[in-house]
Amino acid sequence: MRIFLDTANIEEIKQGARLGVVSGVTTNPSLVAREKGVSFQAVIKEIASIVEGPISAEVLSLELEGMVKEARELVQWADNVVIKVPISPAGLEAISILSRDDIATNATLCFSPNQGLLAALAGATYVSPFVGRMDDVGQDGMAVVADLVAIFRQYKLPTQVIAASIRHPLHCVAAARAGAHIATVPYKILMQMIQHPLTDVGIARFAEDWRRVSKA
Ligand code: E4P
Repeated sequence: MRIFLDTANIEEIKQGARLGVVSGVTTNPSLVAREKGVSFQAVIKEIASIVEGPISAEVLSLELEGMVKEARELVQWADNVVIKVPISPAGLEAISILSRDDIATNATLCFSPNQGLLAALAGATYVSPFVGRMDDVGQDGMAVVADLVAIFRQYKLPTQVIAASIRHPLHCVAAARAGAHIATVPYKILMQMIQHPLTDVGIARFAEDWRRVSKA
């Protein structure tokens, strides 16, 4: 399973990219809106200059023509931009038009296996089930991830599953077990994935033992 960062914050992306474990970035309108004083275009261009892998940028229009027009503009911003499109009748049509033009898409706001299947049939490059938001309403979010992985495998559909709306490190473990191709994680969770109290204790003990021996 690959790891993407789910943020539009440049500092977080720079820090995460240094670790050598981040192979893409997902943004959404809420995440971009948090980065005050910088334009959408400037944020996406800067992210794309830091991370070589896919950078998801979302269209804001709700109707087909607007979605396709925005998508065609967004892909001019950088070679690695992926167009994030919400799943709706217009969204599916937009995905199918864009996929015929070889424009990579990420079908977002996916909350059911049927939505994900339709996005894959429309030609989406990625589909993003929002695990945390499903868990919030008592739906088993990771089951949707597992179902999509199984369905795509069964029918040899090339669409990749991005486990999104990740809320804690155990979501990442469950996504990997479910066979998700990618988990997109907030920076804070990436940091939590690294940490373990026994690692800290072990480092301190090794250092202390070494100090004692080297003094002797
Ligand atoms: C994914 O692409 C979305 O940007 C994100 O994972 C949504 O997460 P949230 O439910 O924490 O807003």
